[in-house]
Amino acid sequence: MPVEVDTVRAVTVPTRLVHGPGAVASLADECRALGITKPMLVTDPGVAAAGLVDRVLPHLNGVVVFDEVRPNPDIELVDRAARVYRENGCDGLVGLGGGSSLDTAKSIGVVARHGGSIADYEWGRDPIEERIPPLVAIPTTAGTGSEVTLWAVITDHERQLKFNVGGTPLIGAHVALIDPELMLGLPPAVTAATGMDALSHAIECFTCDYHQPFNDAVALHAIELVGRWLRRAVEDGTDLEARTHMAHAATLGGMAYGTESAGAAHAMSQSAGGVHDCPHGALTARVLGPVCAYNVPAAPERYARIAQALGIETSGMDVVEAARAGVEEVYRLTDDVDIPTMEELGFSEDEIPMLARIAFEDPQTQGNAREVDVPAYEEIYRAAFVRAG
Ligand SMILES: [Fe+2]
Repeated sequence: MPVEVDTVRAVTVPTRLVHGPGAVASLADECRALGITKPMLVTDPGVAAAGLVDRVLPHLNGVVVFDEVRPNPDIELVDRAARVYRENGCDGLVGLGGGSSLDTAKSIGVVARHGGSIADYEWGRDPIEERIPPLVAIPTTAGTGSEVTLWAVITDHERQLKFNVGGTPLIGAHVALIDPELMLGLPPAVTAATGMDALSHAIECFTCDYHQPFNDAVALHAIELVGRWLRRAVEDGTDLEARTHMAHAATLGGMAYGTESAGAAHAMSQSAGGVHDCPHGALTARVLGPVCAYNVPAAPERYARIAQALGIETSGMDVVEAARAGVEEVYRLTDDVDIPTMEELGFSEDEIPMLARIAFEDPQTQGNAREVDVPAYEEIYRAAFVRAG
């Protein structure tokens, strides 16, 4: 693992955070401050059906509505939306929705600014050289943290995988409007999956090879908030206090990324998510416990801190016992909020060798706390087909 004390690192947060119940009312002011005169609203039919588009439209002048985002957005969708943006002479973006809508909005910004196809900007290919047009990101789920992450995840159907775009502050939203009132109507299953995704971001970034003190601080607080509030948000979706804390947990989890990526759980969920179309949060949550159990020997102190953040009383335990108790709590939370198994998510055990191979090829494998090879991924996947850890 890199030694923290002799490495020069940087932290850039290019996003202004406006948060709290009712924050959406400041949308017009935020757009004006960014010089947006013709925004493109990027959202999806589910968000529109939930009445949330109607909540933001009164705050937008001259808006072009693009409401065709699908879960796990793909290359065709982004390129088509970018054409709509250009043809209408838009000069800014408002993303409204979960990670799919926000990642699509960021990706439209990349293509609108640089030309070509979003496929050209897969991490490691053509670099992103210019700041995307002004973007206001309004999350309607508490999970992806996409309103502050420096990444977008796009599906490539031909290669049956998801690839990352970004890793630079140039792709970050200019403003994140985080309004927990927009999350009050989320169904329990979506609340659970997205909340566990936030936990996964925080745990993976806190334990990965690239961790650094500033990201550690936000990651630990995100873990604490999820541990304390997720069950309540799932049980009673109208609980504004729980929704507010979970909204913060998601944003903090997103900030934990910085310009780096996550670890094995995301290597698995992003690669498997290209095989069967299923909710990213649920898939990540289902593999998180087994990944943590596998990782403990490589970073016991870090997992012991995670246990404490999750509210486990660790006094009297040695470091490894505390770390294992933290992993048990991750498993318990996963089951308490009723995350489906891999099978329930549409996978079969016959697919494990293939899934393990593609997870190993995902770049996020490299940052994982413990070195992980194909047989290890197979073992972790087998554990994700059952409920208890
Ligand atoms: Fe995620």
